Amino acid sequence: MHQDNSTSLIPLVDLQTQSRLLKEDILRRMGDVIDGARYILGQEVQEFEERFAAYCQVDHCIGMANGTEAIHMALRALDIGAGDEVITAGNSFAATALAIAHAGAEAVFIDIDSTDFNIDIELIEDAITEKTKAIIPVHLFGQPARMKEIREIADRHGLKIIEDSAQGHGAEIDGKRCGSFGDIGCFSFYPGKNLGAFGDGGATVTNDPALADKLRLLRNYGQKEKNRHDVLAFNSRLDTIQACVLLSKMDHVEKWTEQRQQVAAWYREDLADVELMLPEERHDVRHVYHLFVVRTPHRDELMASLAAKNIAAGIHYPNPLSRAAPFVDSRTYPMGLPVCQTVAEEIVSLPMYPEMTRDQVSRVSEAISSFVKEKENASELV
Ligand SMILES: Cc1ncc(COP(=O)(O)O)c(C=O)c1O
Repeated sequence: MHQDNSTSLIPLVDLQTQSRLLKEDILRRMGDVIDGARYILGQEVQEFEERFAAYCQVDHCIGMANGTEAIHMALRALDIGAGDEVITAGNSFAATALAIAHAGAEAVFIDIDSTDFNIDIELIEDAITEKTKAIIPVHLFGQPARMKEIREIADRHGLKIIEDSAQGHGAEIDGKRCGSFGDIGCFSFYPGKNLGAFGDGGATVTNDPALADKLRLLRNYGQKEKNRHDVLAFNSRLDTIQACVLLSKMDHVEKWTEQRQQVAAWYREDLADVELMLPEERHDVRHVYHLFVVRTPHRDELMASLAAKNIAAGIHYPNPLSRAAPFVDSRTYPMGLPVCQTVAEEIVSLPMYPEMTRDQVSRVSEAISSFVKEKENASELV
């Protein structure tokens, strides 16, 4: 194992290196926007939408204010609201469920597959009722949900699919990009995402031209032309200034994804023989490693031991969604989401960002393996 003997902080994510690298290009693009006062839906938004649609292998991209609004607008575009149920994974970030609630629908939380942390496809059909209108699979941590099977289930029951691809930029199943499987795909460009803005940003993608038109109306006061408001709509646009950042980053996102995959491969190499559950990568997918999440029953102690060595770690997420105050009365399947619950108590996200060096990965791995060895020795003494 390579050794990095430094004690400097290894952060969970590094937002500064990319910004430093692209600062000049981004400032130039922003300068043009300022000079032309193109703050709202300027040409950079359209330029980015075209590039991101191509990146996702779809016909249309509609920029949105953030990922939560992207999901909310997607539900509205599909006329899903009061009295409807929407099935999603019990372990997602709260925004998935908040968007469902903001549309007026009820989130129904399904347990997950402990091997890939995504919605358990074996459970979905049992949770479908007459009220169910859509499934929102989440490509959690950058590994695609099982979209082929989910599409079959949705087709059998006449359900829509909205992909929550907030963590899945560039992820694929058999070469097909996440966001292109469902009726609408939703992305977040929150700064820490694999493609991140300098603030909030999001997008919906679709191959359906009618849905694309509707999404464009929904994000912009329902206006096709000025002062004509045809639908009950919102103000949920991607800022031109953020499109500048995203356009600049688009040139690098593939390289950054490969660097993330390299970091994951180093972790796997270092931790192969350590008593710790590594994340499974399915053979048919391109995992984009938004996060590298491992499991141990000694999670809290491990995090404390990493913190003592100046290594940051995170928990994504510490509770199933059905435990959050707005959703405590929601329907779950099965009751109590047992896998979500166990996984939530054992997961830890290790530092993961494209610029992580071999030495930094080694330092994290070394810290983990010495913690695990100490734990083993202590249990032998008992
Ligand atoms: C899985 C998931 N869904 C939705 C969102 C919401 O995106 P945003 O923060 O841009 O609203 C996020 C990220 O924050 C996310 O990780």
